[in-house]
Amino acid sequence: MKRHLVAGIGWLLCLMMAVGSAAAEGSTLRVNPSEVRAEMSDTLYGLFFEDINHAADGGLYAELLDNRSFEYENLLNPQRFDHYTGWTFRFLSTGKGKISLMDEEPLHENNLHYVRVTVESSGYTAGNGGYGATAIAGGIPLTGGASYDVSLYLRDRGYAGTVSAALCLRTGEMLSDTVSFTPGAAWEKHTGVLTALEEAEGKSAFLLLTFEGTGEVDLDMVSLMPQERFGSDWPGGGLRSDLVEAMAALQPSFLRFPGGCVAEGSYYRSNFYNWKDTVGPVEQRRENYNTWGYMQSYGLGYYEYFCLAEAIGALPLPVVHAGLLCQARETREAPIPMAELDAYVQDVLDLVEFARGGTDTAWGALRAEMGHPEPFDLRYLAIGNENWGDVYFNRYEVISEAVKAAWPDITTIVAAGPVADNGASWSAIRARFPDSLVDEHYYMDSDWFPAHVKRYDTYSRDTKVFLGEYAAHEEAVSGRRPNNLYSALCEAAYLTGIERNSDVVSMCCYAPLLAREGMQQWTPDLIWFSATQVLLTPNYYVQQMFATTAGEQVVDSEWNGSGDVYQVATRKGETLYVKLVNLSGEDCEVTLELQGVPDGEGTVTRLSGEPNAQNTFAAPDRVVPTGEACAVRDGQVTGTVPGYAVCIWALPLE
Ligand code: AHR
Repeated sequence: MKRHLVAGIGWLLCLMMAVGSAAAEGSTLRVNPSEVRAEMSDTLYGLFFEDINHAADGGLYAELLDNRSFEYENLLNPQRFDHYTGWTFRFLSTGKGKISLMDEEPLHENNLHYVRVTVESSGYTAGNGGYGATAIAGGIPLTGGASYDVSLYLRDRGYAGTVSAALCLRTGEMLSDTVSFTPGAAWEKHTGVLTALEEAEGKSAFLLLTFEGTGEVDLDMVSLMPQERFGSDWPGGGLRSDLVEAMAALQPSFLRFPGGCVAEGSYYRSNFYNWKDTVGPVEQRRENYNTWGYMQSYGLGYYEYFCLAEAIGALPLPVVHAGLLCQARETREAPIPMAELDAYVQDVLDLVEFARGGTDTAWGALRAEMGHPEPFDLRYLAIGNENWGDVYFNRYEVISEAVKAAWPDITTIVAAGPVADNGASWSAIRARFPDSLVDEHYYMDSDWFPAHVKRYDTYSRDTKVFLGEYAAHEEAVSGRRPNNLYSALCEAAYLTGIERNSDVVSMCCYAPLLAREGMQQWTPDLIWFSATQVLLTPNYYVQQMFATTAGEQVVDSEWNGSGDVYQVATRKGETLYVKLVNLSGEDCEVTLELQGVPDGEGTVTRLSGEPNAQNTFAAPDRVVPTGEACAVRDGQVTGTVPGYAVCIWALPLE
């Protein structure tokens, strides 16, 4: 294994060596597709979605406005945001007025706060420029000619006039048409459509509300979403299509959600992630701050997660807390006492009923009311995230047993702690929960992964593993651990070991999935995005290459050659997949010797390049897979595996 220390220079040297000396020659990979070594899991590759890095709000969730319902409140860090975050009042005002934060007679008890606008002279305004905007910079980048759904709740408290909505530049230049609403005596939802002018393309807009009247009017739940979005008929309002597409293109077999630490919450029990806060009409969901320091609107809530999983062909895999806040952080409030666990156990049972119960059950009826009378295909439930010790296992036992008593076919997932060296957790799990699926998490240096490619060779085959979070971590540069090709290849090397052992590792997913540029709390991440762009990393392409060529059986293969090379061969029906990862900087001439494989035409897909190469918003295609045809002749395929590359051959067996 060669570690690229000063990668740019290292890569150049490698290139010169490869040119100056003969490339490694004469390596063979012998494959016997009829010799099955292990059956593979059909749920091996999946996704882990966490609302970290503004993955949900400001990301996948289609809402464009930040703090649409004036609920922002942070127990941990009150300076960070407040009820007016995201809003600028008097913004472009020609009239006079003032605002008060109110909580009497709210829109709903879960949506307690709203703004009372007292307009003294017509023309008072309020503006919201979306995520990342400030009063003096940023805004919502518009698509020229596109339509946007706008909605808001108003209540007349002695107001004569209308409230209008439009999109505009911070200078006041109008970027759309205008819609006007007349408030009624009770809270009422008003909706309209704003169409951006053609010349608004790429311009940064604010949603501008203008109070054209005088008197007092109450305002809440102001929303702006592009009409072009995924799941626009879901109660939450829908998702960003481009991000859904990027997720679906990974062909995930499951979707773990709503997060790791997010699913637990931090420091105070009021911060537990309560799935019930996230369902029902969107204006009735109780917002909460999350572990990563920002608010969750829950417009992407449990119902929407289930719908999303279904839409992308993935099994839903919810993570619920185990009556414990995130153990890795200081726990200011004690765990739910064992003697008081019943109410929480019922919450978890209610969740399963929400997903699978008949429409004649209370929670099944809510699911139907929300738009999905058919049950969701819930087969797995993770109880706890990265927890450890008796404080956890005792609670896990109670919750898991209750779930299994009610729903015997559900596989419950037990956490094995937050580190790779998790022997103590495993001892407890083997003794107490051998039938649970065991959730391992580890984030390690890139080189750890190829060095531990045989980790699962010696695991006993009876208890199955879910590698629920992992990623290869490079040294941080300017505070960021990069998503470079080398880290992706180290993950690829490791995945050859996972595939070989997929009789015991039945599921795995990279973490975290999404990050909004400039708003991230964690690096590296699989998919980066801005308000307008989606950036796929080399790590993404490795996941995609492996997930789209997942086999059904591992077959016999043997590497005879030099180099820092990792390989696995699998088959699915009448297709043979051969995966080879070259972590050295030298090209490798390879002959695949394929026993019993007829002459035919196949394909080879490669991901290769300079080890430190990264995709960026300016150069998103620096590291992308390329494919070409290849031929099997006389039981052989010959080719070059470049230095720092992964190659996957798909070859016909008939
Ligand atoms: O993936 C980011 C975080 O890493 C998860 O929330 C947590 O489970 C782990 O510590």
